[in-house]
Amino acid sequence: MLVEDRMTEADWRMGFRSLEAEIGDGVELEVDGTLPAELEGTLYRIGPARFDVYGERYRHWFDGDGMVHALRLSGGRAEYRNRFVATDKKGEEDAAGARIHGAFGTPPAGGPLRRLRNVHPKSAANTNVVFHGGKLLALWEAGRPWRLDPVTLETVGEDDLGGVLGKHEAISAHPKLDRATGEMWNFGVGYGPRTTISLYRTSADGVTARVHKVPLDFAPMVHDFALTATKAVFVLHPIALPRIPVGLMLGRKTFGDSLRWQPQRGTVVLSVDRETGEVRPYKTAPFLTFHTANAWDEDDDVVVDLCATEDDSIMKFFYEVMAGRDFAPTSTYLTRLRLSPDGRIEQRRLSDVSLEFPRVAGRALCQPHTRVYGATVNDAAGFLGAPATVDPATGRSSVAVLKAHQIAGEPVPVTKADPTSDDDVWLLALVLDAQAGRTDVWVLDGADVAAPPVAVVRLPHVVPFGFHGSWVRASSMS
Ligand SMILES: [Fe+2]
Repeated sequence: MLVEDRMTEADWRMGFRSLEAEIGDGVELEVDGTLPAELEGTLYRIGPARFDVYGERYRHWFDGDGMVHALRLSGGRAEYRNRFVATDKKGEEDAAGARIHGAFGTPPAGGPLRRLRNVHPKSAANTNVVFHGGKLLALWEAGRPWRLDPVTLETVGEDDLGGVLGKHEAISAHPKLDRATGEMWNFGVGYGPRTTISLYRTSADGVTARVHKVPLDFAPMVHDFALTATKAVFVLHPIALPRIPVGLMLGRKTFGDSLRWQPQRGTVVLSVDRETGEVRPYKTAPFLTFHTANAWDEDDDVVVDLCATEDDSIMKFFYEVMAGRDFAPTSTYLTRLRLSPDGRIEQRRLSDVSLEFPRVAGRALCQPHTRVYGATVNDAAGFLGAPATVDPATGRSSVAVLKAHQIAGEPVPVTKADPTSDDDVWLLALVLDAQAGRTDVWVLDGADVAAPPVAVVRLPHVVPFGFHGSWVRASSMS
């Protein structure tokens, strides 16, 4: 029995267990190897950490209450904190000692009337954490951001971006930084009789404005977008709500359960001029995408690199992992779209290595990139795997060497001092060590990710599999 238990524990399921423990006062952690001296700042990570609410397990990976983890690196030492985002949702459920609210894949608790009363989901604040304009924000794509204290991680409160976001308005978890202007751009989808996408611009000093509102012909799930110096690009894949989602409107069905794969629509791509709001539509073969890697203007064309998969099996994967079942979705590959002003769109796969959670070096944002960093897909863990780099010009990849019981998610690239190429980054990745029962932070050299990590920081617990994170230099927080 003991052996069986150990075997059950030593796998990916360990990453889908709740973590309730918070470390509010920073603790210094052991470091194996040597942290590069130039790493002076904080790695923020976020993800769902409460998968079970007072005995009720969520059905979907996206649903749990968000927890922020901060690893502050300074002088070669590492200090760690973690806290839940103290949303009103979590507060209400803690006060009741029971689950109340629904989320992406779990309906609100209770009978038909209670579900109807709670039909508007409340933010789980679990998808991305970004620092811009002096604010650290925890993001979730179906609600407003939650602001956190960047040092203590205490929750300051819900943030309406200076009054720009209404009570039920949402902003995505994938803002894009335009390094040339210092602006952060983002979007929010408004579902309704006419679904719309609003485009937002936040100035370097943190002032947000809604700059355009684009009506859509259908109601797709839109998780991410792409930004060039002149355009915002929305990839509207054919996974969408029905025209009148009755079950969703009555709180009987979740957003996730209401989505339908409609490959006959193809994939629609909208290029929106940042200045004028002019929309150019394109149509290509059906694929499903969660994440873009980067985009840029090339003469009059727009080039977008993203991770694409040819069917919707990944949507099932998110439920299966929460039920503890092995499920291998169709692989996701780095794919390039080229949009021409005459309405032509080209689509081609860039590499045969599966890749998700794509990132590029900071210097390449909105510019042509020569490397895409991400996680290869581990056979046993679908969306997660090992840190990897792909050269989009050749398709060649390099993958970090992990053992069978080690699983990583998104690597965060941190630009080295005086970079001369996209290789000049450190990659910071959380790696679950299911044998040790702990999560480590690996520091890999972006120029040689297959080499052993230069440093490993041992965290005091398993960090449940999360989604995204940011590196914030100490100098940009002061
Ligand atoms: Fe994401």
